[in-house]
Amino acid sequence: MSAPAIRQLALQGAAAILVLSLAWPYYGLNAEAMPWLETSLAIGAVALILAVLSRQPWWWRVIHAGFMPLVWFTHRLAIDPGWFLFAAILLLLVYRGALSGQVPLYLSNKQTVAALADLLAERGPSRFLDLGAGIGSTTVPLADRLPDSQFTGVENAPLTWLVGLLLSVGRPNIRWRWDDLWQAELADYDVVYAFLSPAPMAELWEKAKAEMPPGSLFISNSFPVPGIAPARVIEVDCQPPRPLYCYPL
Ligand SMILES: C[S@@+](CC[C@H](N)C(=O)[O-])C[C@H]1O[C@@H](n2cnc3c(N)ncnc32)[C@H](O)[C@@H]1O
Repeated sequence: MSAPAIRQLALQGAAAILVLSLAWPYYGLNAEAMPWLETSLAIGAVALILAVLSRQPWWWRVIHAGFMPLVWFTHRLAIDPGWFLFAAILLLLVYRGALSGQVPLYLSNKQTVAALADLLAERGPSRFLDLGAGIGSTTVPLADRLPDSQFTGVENAPLTWLVGLLLSVGRPNIRWRWDDLWQAELADYDVVYAFLSPAPMAELWEKAKAEMPPGSLFISNSFPVPGIAPARVIEVDCQPPRPLYCYPL
């Protein structure tokens, strides 16, 4: 689990411990049943205060305030616990990257793929790598449009990897790998594409600089490398805006 995820878990845990350590003795000594709705609301309120004090972004404040009241509400629905286990496993199979590296799944759109195809056509036959390739939303259509180029997708979430593998079947110019993007050997590629999140960009750029050969191109969809001016920004015609930041090596 990544450090930010552990931090949020600790914050919510601290709020729960604080409220329960006051409420339990109080209601225990008075021989009264715990009022769980009020207790969950109190935990939500304390978690919100802690989130504000520790300057968490607004969406974390909302999550912290609502988490325990929602746990109380869901408990009232008396759903079989097996369904929660099933949902957790399913989410992990798809969103593993969000937990381990703050990179969730969302897909490159058709306009982005068209812009990438134009860029690759300008460069001639290429060896293209999609770091965190999802279900193959770039590699599959690009491989069809540019049969003289080689496309590799590296993905580490099991279910998305499997979907990408199935979609890659019958396309000889795709190599579809289940691996950690940090283990990918970038020296083997002319064009490396990343559509990840702001979190890994600085470290990823260091990796690109260390490994990618001269004349190659690193492209980041939507998330620029902090502190590095891109040589070119391709404005893709879509909403929300998804600029392609291009960094030649
Ligand atoms: C925003 S999606 C982009 C998917 C695809 N590249 C596209 O453009 O449609 C990011 C993907 O990176 C994957 N990912 C996150 N961390 C990864 C890692 N360390 N190694 C491999 N893949 C990772 C996620 O599972 C997710 O599928």
